[in-house]
Order: sequence, then C-alpha cells, then structure tokens
Amino acid sequence: MISAELLRRLDVPAPRYTSYPTVPEWSDTFDAADHARALARASLTPEQPLSLYVHIPFCKELCTYCGCNVVVTRDQARVERYLDALEREIAIAAAALGARHRVSRLHLGGGTPTFLDERQLMRLWRMLFGPFVLARDAEVALEIDPAVTRPEQLELLAALGCNRISMGVQDLDPDVQRAVNRIQTVEETARAIAHARQVGFGSVNLDLIYGLPRQTPASFARTMSQVVELRPDRVAVFSFAYVPAARPNQRRLQVADLPSSDAKQRLQEIADEQLRAAGFRAIGIDHYAREEDELARAAKAGTLWRDFQGYTTRRSNATVAFGVSGISDFGFAYAQNDHALGRHAEAVNAGRLATVRGKWLSEDDRRRRDIITDLMCNGRVDLGTEGAVYFADELESLAHFQADGLLTVDGGHVVLTPIGQRFARNVAMVFDAYVRSPGAARSFSRTV
Ligand SMILES: C[S@@+](CC[C@H](N)C(=O)[O-])C[C@H]1O[C@@H](n2cnc3c(N)ncnc32)[C@H](O)[C@@H]1O
Ligand code: SF4
Repeated sequence: MISAELLRRLDVPAPRYTSYPTVPEWSDTFDAADHARALARASLTPEQPLSLYVHIPFCKELCTYCGCNVVVTRDQARVERYLDALEREIAIAAAALGARHRVSRLHLGGGTPTFLDERQLMRLWRMLFGPFVLARDAEVALEIDPAVTRPEQLELLAALGCNRISMGVQDLDPDVQRAVNRIQTVEETARAIAHARQVGFGSVNLDLIYGLPRQTPASFARTMSQVVELRPDRVAVFSFAYVPAARPNQRRLQVADLPSSDAKQRLQEIADEQLRAAGFRAIGIDHYAREEDELARAAKAGTLWRDFQGYTTRRSNATVAFGVSGISDFGFAYAQNDHALGRHAEAVNAGRLATVRGKWLSEDDRRRRDIITDLMCNGRVDLGTEGAVYFADELESLAHFQADGLLTVDGGHVVLTPIGQRFARNVAMVFDAYVRSPGAARSFSRTV
C-alpha cells in the first residue's frame, strides 16, 4: 500500500518510454533521405535478423477511449489502396536494405489487423515474404478485436506462422462498455480464445485498461476474476492514457465518470492482487505473464527488453516499420511515418519513404536509453564504476526516491522496490536529459 500523500507527489505527466529520446524530441527535419540512410546502415549487418512492424489502422467502430492511430471505415476500396501503398513502401525499404534479410519478429498492430480478410492477409504475406525471409523460430504476433475476427482468419494466420495473439478486452462490465462505446461480451472473448487455441496459437494475451469511466473497485474485481477464468498466458493492464488534447474522440467521455487518481490506483491494486494470486508475475510496467511463460522467466533473470511492440525476450538489431504512423527503431536512429493515409500513399507512390520525423541518437542518448529500458523492464540497473561517475548528478537526484522507499542505490547499482517498479516512469525521468525541454511534458499521460 502507498500513502495518499506519496501518490499525489508521484502523479505527474511522464513519458511511457517506449522510446528514448521520446517522440516530442524527434525532429521533423529527419526526412525520407535520412530514413533511407538508416536502412542502408542497418543493411551492413545482414547476418543480424530484423524485426518488422506493420500498422493496419482500420477499425469498424471507434472506441471512445482509444489512443491509437485508427481509421474507422467500411470502405473496402480504401483498404485495397492502403495495401497497394504498403506494397510500394515494402519494396522501397527492401531495396534500401539490399539482401533478403531474415526476420525473427513480426508484429501486426493497429487499429485492427483482422480487419483484413483472408485474401488481403495472404496478399500482405506475399508482399512481406518476397523481399524478407521469415525465420523458422520467428515470433509472429498480432492484435485482434474479437468482435471482428472470424475463425477462418485465425486458421489462416496460424497456418501462415502466427504464434502469438493479443486481444482487446479493456473491461467486461456492460456499464463501462457502454460508457466507452465498446460492447464485447465475455462469451465473445471466450469464443475467440477457444478458436485461437484450437488452431494452434500457443500464446494468448488479453488487454485491459484501468481508469476508464464508470469503473468501480467492485466492477473491476468482477472483470478481473472473469479474465483469470479465461486463462490467458499474458495480461496487459494499461493505465488509461487520457489525453483529450491529442485524441479528440476522448472528448466524448464524461469527465465526471472518470475515477479519481486514488480510485484509479485502487483499480490497479485490484488487478495486481488478483493476477498475482492466480499465478501471474508482474513484468515491467502494466504487464503480467504466467510464471512458466518465457517473459516471466526473462523478467526473473533480468534480461527483458522493451520496444514499441511491447516486452520481449528478443532484443533485435533493428525494427523496420511499415504503414501509417509506423516507427522504425534502428538502435542508432528512430524514424516515424506519416499518420495520414493520403500523404503516406502519395509519398510511396512517388518512390520515397513516408517519413515525417526521426532522430539520430548520440552516444549519450544511447547510454541513457539502455539505462531507462533496464529500469522499465528489469527494475534495476548497474551503471558500473565509470557510469556512476558519468551519472553522478542523476544518482544524487535519486535520494528522495530512496527516502520514499521506491529504490535502493549502492554505488552505481540502482534497484527498484516492488512499489518503485510501479513508478519506474518517475525514476526513469531522472535519466532523461530532455525532460525539462520546452513542451516536453505536454503530450504525456500521468503516471497514476
Ligand atoms: C490496437 S489496440 C488492440 C487491438 C484491437 N483494435 C482491439 O481494440 O481489440 C491496442 C490496445 O491499446 C490499448 N489502448 C488503446 N487506447 C488506450 C488508451 N487511451 N490508454 C491505455 N491503453 C489504450 C487497449 O488496451 C488496446 O487493446
Ligand atoms: S481500441 Fe482497438 S478497436 Fe477500438 S478504436 Fe482502438 S484500435 Fe480500434
């Protein structure tokens, strides 16, 4: 348990650190030519497998809480045009990369990738696995919305080599579901899980959100027991990122229905208690996995890594992203695509990548990124003797967190306590060299 006073002090806007430096620090002068240069540099290590991300932005309805880049449509011609654009984009990137690279991780995100029907999914696979080679032991994951996913699609995806599936659930209480415009019965979710298991998906993740309008401790406890009964392998319990300035759809939510930060914290505790009691281990921030899952084992061993696609046991050399708003992470640079379908298509039809911003990382950026990732994933970091001197100011700034019982510091060794792990974003901010730059905090959600 954490005191209300400490909770208030810790409740600040903070990055989620899926990247460092964070997106507001990237530059819009980083353009398609820079992006192509980054791909060419990544091509110099063809023996190292790549990670691929494909963004499928389409959804059949807009959930009012949604913070993702989505396009609500029923127009199949738009989807076909998007696939045409993806085909061009993949060809441009593949040409810059040269040799047929091996892919050890593929993630289809959205939006809702199962908005694509079987023929469109097959087409996507042909587009990807002409220029690239899917490694035999690759991790192939996709996000699905049970309400738009048919058994035939799951069967095809399993046959194509997909082995991890992540389903949006958010909350199973009908009152909460009405408040956020996402109606999905527990039976519907159970059927989708059963189909996924039947066709051979070895790993099923469920996404929940705490902090949504009309959630109460009693309703969320019921949701969590139903989730446990569904027997997923992994569960993500995201803190609701309420950012109405950036996401106009969230302005439709009734502010009076949102839980207070104390109530929100209680919801998180309920999820945490129930999942631990059911045999799940907490992974980094917001994530849980069964003790026997490879993520739980990596968390125990302190070898987890995290990127835009979530927690993983496989740190890849580079993630190459395709599609609107996709983010490529080369380790030495980030590059983001335009979020608008029209501009994305226009760029790739003209033969160039649809890059809108990015960042070349300095040596200092890379050091700080590794520290922040370790804190966010493994709840500890060892800076070594030289690091303890380089980051002496930061280590000194951790004193008040130590006094609050969030961590211990021993030389260059920082270890978060169980409460500290919940507030890893606050601790990570101490190592963020940009956090005081003008406008940096505006777009971040709060830590509670
Ligand atoms: C692309 S969606 C999942 C796939 C599918 N579209 C669905 O909703 O079932 C990824 C996940 O992001 C999470 N999410 C979306 N908006 C969020 C927000 N504003 N705050 C926290 N989590 C959010 C949800 O848990 C959602 O399942
Ligand atoms: S939560 Fe999923 S289904 Fe709902 S709008 Fe967002 S991406 Fe689409």
